[in-house]
Amino acid sequence: MSSFVRNQWYVAAYGKEVGRELLARTILGEPIVFYRTEAGEVVGLADRCVHRRYPLSESRLDGDKVVCGYHGFTYDQGGTCVFVPGQARIPRTARVPAYPVVEQDSFVWVWIGEKDLADPGLIPRAPWLADPAYTTVGGLEPLKARYELLVDNLLDLSHETYLHGGYIGTPEVADTPITTEVDEEHRILYVSRHMDDAACPPFYAKSTGVEGRITRWQDIEYHPPCLYLLHSRIAPVGVLPEPDGSDPNGFHVEVVYAITPETESSTHDFWAVARDFALEDQGVTDFLAENNRTVVLQDVEALDILEQVIQAEPEGYQELSVNIDTGALAARRILKKMAGEAAKVPAK
Ligand code: FES
Ligand SMILES: [Fe+2]
Repeated sequence: MSSFVRNQWYVAAYGKEVGRELLARTILGEPIVFYRTEAGEVVGLADRCVHRRYPLSESRLDGDKVVCGYHGFTYDQGGTCVFVPGQARIPRTARVPAYPVVEQDSFVWVWIGEKDLADPGLIPRAPWLADPAYTTVGGLEPLKARYELLVDNLLDLSHETYLHGGYIGTPEVADTPITTEVDEEHRILYVSRHMDDAACPPFYAKSTGVEGRITRWQDIEYHPPCLYLLHSRIAPVGVLPEPDGSDPNGFHVEVVYAITPETESSTHDFWAVARDFALEDQGVTDFLAENNRTVVLQDVEALDILEQVIQAEPEGYQELSVNIDTGALAARRILKKMAGEAAKVPAK
């Protein structure tokens, strides 16, 4: 059975990736072509011509219409065929599905599932990415592993100590216990690790200029299936937010991942890092972009290996879970529940 969670919004692209060129992207196994109309609206259509299934992404735009590159069937932005070569009559079934698409917080979100259920109000927010009070770097890495492995990875940050030592990992990450909390009603998973007195890893020492030991908080907020937020706060050791909640002496980094399955064994790994300090400092921007991409690629490399291991092993391998895994196990439970619920919705 597929482990995909349908009837959900997924990040398909960064808004800046979508323009007047046709962009092909497979989401949950569905090939989709994205483009922007002349008025600037993002369109997502099934990337298979209804005639002989030629990819529309290999075709061309004529104004807001897509002209199939094989025999010229032409589709409007709603997916309706408006021209068939060699005949005036257009068959009633000549259309390709159009996907509900919403642009928000610098992402292009696409609804995968029953169209009638697509409520833009359900899209979780990552407002920092489009907020001038933050400076953001980001990227998209192809991951040759199933999306569940990335969920596991991001919900158990103890691996920072080992896989990302010298970048974001220090001994205190693995040593400090986590708290896990599930908001069942809103389907949000919270995993927190607060380190009172920790070494400052190069990622933060170089970007903030803080020297010596730090107070380091990692507060994860996972909106399954797609959006993962890590609210990261660091400050010199002992420096806490003010009683009124303001935090003028803390440095805040909002780490955002969008976890979008491509196929059963590959994933679009969107990552972004938004900071509220040194906003104009290009050196800090370049450093964080380079350093964080390196960290992301360390995960990609490890998860690509894990996917190969899983594919080669016999059914029924038993993992061993321990305390550090409570967040990841809670995520697995929620995803399984959501996949089951979506499977019960009758397809139209
Ligand atoms: S495959 Fe598109 S027009 Fe023939
Ligand atoms: Fe990692």
